[in-house]
Amino acid sequence: MVTRTVDFRSDTVTKPTEAMRAAMASAEVDDDVLGSDPTAFLLEKEMAILMGKEAALFVPSGTMGNLVSVLVHCDIRGSEVILGDNSHIHIYENGGIATIGGVHPRTVKNNEDGTMDINLIEAAIRDPRGELVYPTTRLICLENSHANSGGRCLSVEYTDKVGELAKRHGLKLHIDGARIFNASVALGVPVDRLVQAADSVSVCLSKGLGAPVGSVIVGSSSFITKARRLRKTLGGGMRQVGILCAAALVAVQENVAKLESDHKKAKLLAEGLNQIKGLKLDARSVETNIIFIDIEESSRITAGKLCKDLEQRGILVMQESSSRVRIVMHHQISASDVQYALSCFQQVVKGVQNENGI
Ligand SMILES: Cc1ncc(COP(=O)(O)O)c(C=O)c1O
Repeated sequence: MVTRTVDFRSDTVTKPTEAMRAAMASAEVDDDVLGSDPTAFLLEKEMAILMGKEAALFVPSGTMGNLVSVLVHCDIRGSEVILGDNSHIHIYENGGIATIGGVHPRTVKNNEDGTMDINLIEAAIRDPRGELVYPTTRLICLENSHANSGGRCLSVEYTDKVGELAKRHGLKLHIDGARIFNASVALGVPVDRLVQAADSVSVCLSKGLGAPVGSVIVGSSSFITKARRLRKTLGGGMRQVGILCAAALVAVQENVAKLESDHKKAKLLAEGLNQIKGLKLDARSVETNIIFIDIEESSRITAGKLCKDLEQRGILVMQESSSRVRIVMHHQISASDVQYALSCFQQVVKGVQNENGI
């Protein structure tokens, strides 16, 4: 019987803390669609200050945050956005920018560290002289930290350079900052400085920060005014939303400080996993809270079997492909959970090897 569960599937699996539940229970609320929920107002004001932007807007999810942001920047039909071929917006958001917004995506290859080569971004910008046949480039999207690259961080220097490029061509820059606080902590750069070059940022409160629900988008006052209207169009206008914002305020106030420890635990786990024969990963590239583990062909264990056997021991991980699994660290996993997980990985990988007579 499983007596202990350690849930590494994502940093979205955290349960609200006692402080969050207490804040939700006592939150002062009103109708946010009518613009009068004081707790939503407070969260939005705090987030705008923290991110160094004029205004902020609470949205139900990171997906809606990105969708609203892209659609506000690309509000003319025939707009094109340049984004990474391995970006969350391009791969995991149902193509919403195209199906709902009519925005044409132009992908540029994501490097292993989550960046796109700046010369390739520049080459992807449409020449306005070809407007008879081309869509019009209006936006560049970055993702920081970059989830599919294993939570790698884009530096402030890189972000500034992309910002300068965008400005030079009259484009806007949006950052999918689902885990921007992880990046800020890992890089040791204040979050407002890290996103200074961006016209908008979508920040998830329900990932590393551990709030139960929600994201915030930040940008100029005029951007947020348009975003508020679009959020309503998409069905994201919520009434006594202060209940959710109260938990998010606690998340921002209490959990940013826990990210450094999450990154240390992730590094420790990665180094331990790296010692297990049959598993392959580059522990040096674990910069934040995401670890991808590749299973060596010679080990003859599949990712599916690894996940199943780990689950029997209470270790939950995400299968990415037949030879790859993903682990995400969060504040509700302890150092002792990490040691327990390592021993389970050892047992499972070794066990399968024995079964296979290796
Ligand atoms: C990088 C990134 N952006 C956006 C999202 C979307 O967030 P949500 O699940 O809240 O829609 C995710 C979700 O995992 C993500 O990892």
